[in-house]
Amino acid sequence: MTRINLRVDQENVSDDVEPRMLLVQYLREKLGKTGTVIGCDTSNCGACTVLLDGRSVKSCNVLAVQADGAVVDTIERLADDDGTLHPVQEAFRECHGLQCGYCTPGMIMQTVDLLNENPDPTEEEVRLGLEGNLCRCTGYHNIVKSVLHAAQLKKSQETGVGA
Ligand code: FES
Ligand code: FES
Repeated sequence: MTRINLRVDQENVSDDVEPRMLLVQYLREKLGKTGTVIGCDTSNCGACTVLLDGRSVKSCNVLAVQADGAVVDTIERLADDDGTLHPVQEAFRECHGLQCGYCTPGMIMQTVDLLNENPDPTEEEVRLGLEGNLCRCTGYHNIVKSVLHAAQLKKSQETGVGA
């Protein structure tokens, strides 16, 4: 067992973990953060995407011990405490960016990273930015629409001008 200390969704956590435990297993099995989803066993689907020190990673591709000392943000702390959705969540809701929703947590976390890096992406840049996240239901059209709308919502929040 190896001791790890990290900050997950704004709370400090400390645990003894098996060196082979994946970050996604740690989040789900030890911390009960089942909002982060396992959608494949080949590191292809992106459903497990979280932010690690502010950048998106597939948490099935990272060992829990590699996150020692890091800040991890998951879908579970994206909304405000009063239930107000994050602009990316709101945009996915408004633009019907999901059907079964299995891919949605990963899509949303990937979008948060994408818009942090590029606040005003083109449709092509959105499609490129989400290429590591698979959705089996939507055909991506409404997801891309959601991301473009999220960029507008974020901008209007920042400038105080309606989207
Ligand atoms: S569960 Fe991580 S990429 Fe599919
Ligand atoms: S909404 Fe079902 S996999 Fe994306």
